[in-house]
Amino acid sequence: MRPLIAGNWKMHGSLTEAASLAEAVQAGAGGAAELLVCPPFPYLVPVAGKLSGGAVALGGQDCHAAAKGAHTGDVAAPMLRDVGARYVILGHSERRANHAETDAAVRAKAEAALAAGLVPIVCVGESEAERLAAQAEPVVTGQLDGSLPDGFAAAGGVVAYEPVWAIGTGRTPTEAEIAAIHAAIRANLKTRFGAAGGGLRILYGGSVKPANAKAILALPDVDGALVGGASLVAADFLAIAAGV
Ligand code: G3H
Repeated sequence: MRPLIAGNWKMHGSLTEAASLAEAVQAGAGGAAELLVCPPFPYLVPVAGKLSGGAVALGGQDCHAAAKGAHTGDVAAPMLRDVGARYVILGHSERRANHAETDAAVRAKAEAALAAGLVPIVCVGESEAERLAAQAEPVVTGQLDGSLPDGFAAAGGVVAYEPVWAIGTGRTPTEAEIAAIHAAIRANLKTRFGAAGGGLRILYGGSVKPANAKAILALPDVDGALVGGASLVAADFLAIAAGV
């Protein structure tokens, strides 16, 4: 399957910086990997204007579970679709922690994304305490069971494994630890969705940078990366993508 290298810009940058970052990513696109950028909501439209020819996909960082309504400050999945997004990141650990998003809430959002024609990228991952307690695998598979909607596989949904303690810290699990969790995720997807589960992309996220990307991306069942900090520097993001 074609690897996906996704940049989660989080709440970073200015309009000028978003536009020039998008331009630089667009200019460097064309390798083996599919590229995706997920800017903050206000920059989706100007970034879309910098992306041409479908070489770089656009995504949101969240959506509401409802298609429309009185939800001040929220953004609906059809709105993301309307401005050209193809993907939406859901259940990122920062949303789970900062907005008390439960697995059920993430599942409802993923259902809204599917209904709008968006591909959900559902994030899962254990805390450091959970890893130290040897609970990483059951935590992650539990999150999958609770967060993925039934239509996930048919829509080509993406899972992103992001150990919370590796996000923005410069620390990563060992290659063996990443491979073990990705194998567990693959097994869970096959059990739940049958053969289709074998074809879904599983991304690794958490302190991915050019120096470690090639080795991580070469691991079995690692089908791409969800990149935070390094996605804010076009050269680094493109170097990560070149490692597939
Ligand atoms: O969504 C991206 C992740 O949270 C990873 O962030 O690459 O800055 O560690 P990071």
